[in-house]
Amino acid sequence: MALLEIDNLHVYYGHIHALKGISLTVDKGEIVTLIGGNGAGKTTTLRTISGTLRAPAGSAVRLNGQELHRLRANQVVEQGVIHVPEGRRVFSRMSVLENLEMGSFARKDKSGMGRDLDYIFNLFPRLKERRSQLAGTLSGGEQQMLAMGRGLMADPKILLMDEPSMGLAPVLVEAIFDTIVELNRDRGIAVLLVEQNALMALQVANRGYVLETGRIVLAGPASELQANPQVKEAYLGGA
Ligand SMILES: Nc1ncnc2c1ncn2[C@@H]1O[C@H](COP(=O)(O)OP(=O)(O)O)[C@@H](O)[C@H]1O
Ligand SMILES: [Mg+2]
Repeated sequence: MALLEIDNLHVYYGHIHALKGISLTVDKGEIVTLIGGNGAGKTTTLRTISGTLRAPAGSAVRLNGQELHRLRANQVVEQGVIHVPEGRRVFSRMSVLENLEMGSFARKDKSGMGRDLDYIFNLFPRLKERRSQLAGTLSGGEQQMLAMGRGLMADPKILLMDEPSMGLAPVLVEAIFDTIVELNRDRGIAVLLVEQNALMALQVANRGYVLETGRIVLAGPASELQANPQVKEAYLGGA
């Protein structure tokens, strides 16, 4: 059984049919990427999984076979499904440490918090140095690290990451993607990675799905998608 399963998901914004029946799975321990251009429906997909948007009748989101789509957003967090949103959304008037503490409000084993904080500071030494600094004064890359760290403090089974590379210099993008691989390997945390940066995302993922205007048009192992002429043409600059 898949860890996360989306089955025939339709989402409407008024008359706009943003997701037209998408289905996908993420297995335990996997990194899966959902790639697609601007407006394809990537963020809508993540917002539906995390319970910010409601899945209509006939659509289902399941975690280990249990229906997730009937839960409220805070209950989805308690199940270990953690959304790291587009544009980071850190609490800018709070310190780095306070932001990390906010991430842990829903977790059940409070005893693991100290260990996880150590793990996060080890993963991102920058955050450790800046633990007392206001989050709003961090650079874009540091805010992305903080958003990921805050997600990790919730003790996730799966991280839903929305365009972590957006607006970052290439060297920072590489560092963020290396960290995704590291936390997946060290902790077995599954990742659903939403990206416009298909080249980087397919390098770190096990499998991928290509989303175009609300439909999944291609799916397969990341290596196959990297070699696929259609993907190369549309997303990898013909490289
Ligand atoms: N709150 C909203 N109200 C109306 N339309 C929306 C809203 N959010 C997204 N959309 C539309 O839904 C489609 C998918 O958007 P989105 O999921 O944000 O795409 P992506 O994250 O892939 O760029 C787009 O056509 C977008 O304009
Ligand atoms: Mg988006």
